[in-house]
Amino acid sequence: MIRPVIHRAVVASKNPDKITELETLLARHGLVGEVVRGLDWPDVVEDAPTLEGNALLKARQVALSTGLPSIADDTGLEVDALGGAPGVRTARYSGPDATYQSNVDALLAALQGVEDRAARFRTVVVAVLADGTEVVAEGELVGDIAWACRGSAGFGYDPVFEVDGRTLAEMEPQEKDLISHRARAIQALADALAARTGSG
Ligand code: IMP
Repeated sequence: MIRPVIHRAVVASKNPDKITELETLLARHGLVGEVVRGLDWPDVVEDAPTLEGNALLKARQVALSTGLPSIADDTGLEVDALGGAPGVRTARYSGPDATYQSNVDALLAALQGVEDRAARFRTVVVAVLADGTEVVAEGELVGDIAWACRGSAGFGYDPVFEVDGRTLAEMEPQEKDLISHRARAIQALADALAARTGSG
């Protein structure tokens, strides 16, 4: 493997599903030599008006708390028929005590009888490097909202997000990792870091 761009870093998330996906993707691109686990930090209030703003909040605060470089992502689901909602409110779509299931239920209820199911996932990923430099990148996955949940893999809205007739929850994790918004964001981050260091 080529020398990693970031020697050691923390993934700025407390969501184990997201951490697993990010770690796989970071390893694939040889971006981080060692993902440091087992650290804790105060919960970050994600109250920025944009995905980028929230990703920056998380990455900055976790870098500050741990003294290590950090990688954060913020993801939004944008549904055309809902004017781009839930967007930045995706995590709390069904209320402050939202669960994966209550969010999916709220989305299916909002789209009851709606024929236009077009939607996209958008992920903004931020790396805060050892010298304090911030690098921002983005990835998108276009699809449709299914009429009901299908599949048991993945997490969050995966059981209702269809790409070419299959939901993300009906795919093996490796297949989702090849096409996902998060994979594309990490690819874009790798490209941006390579351009910065001139190693790509
Ligand atoms: P956040 O980026 O942690 O704020 O997540 C926003 C919301 O999107 C949460 O409800 C997540 O469960 C959901 N989410 C994030 N990434 C994915 C994904 O890859 N598939 C399905 N749902 C996701």
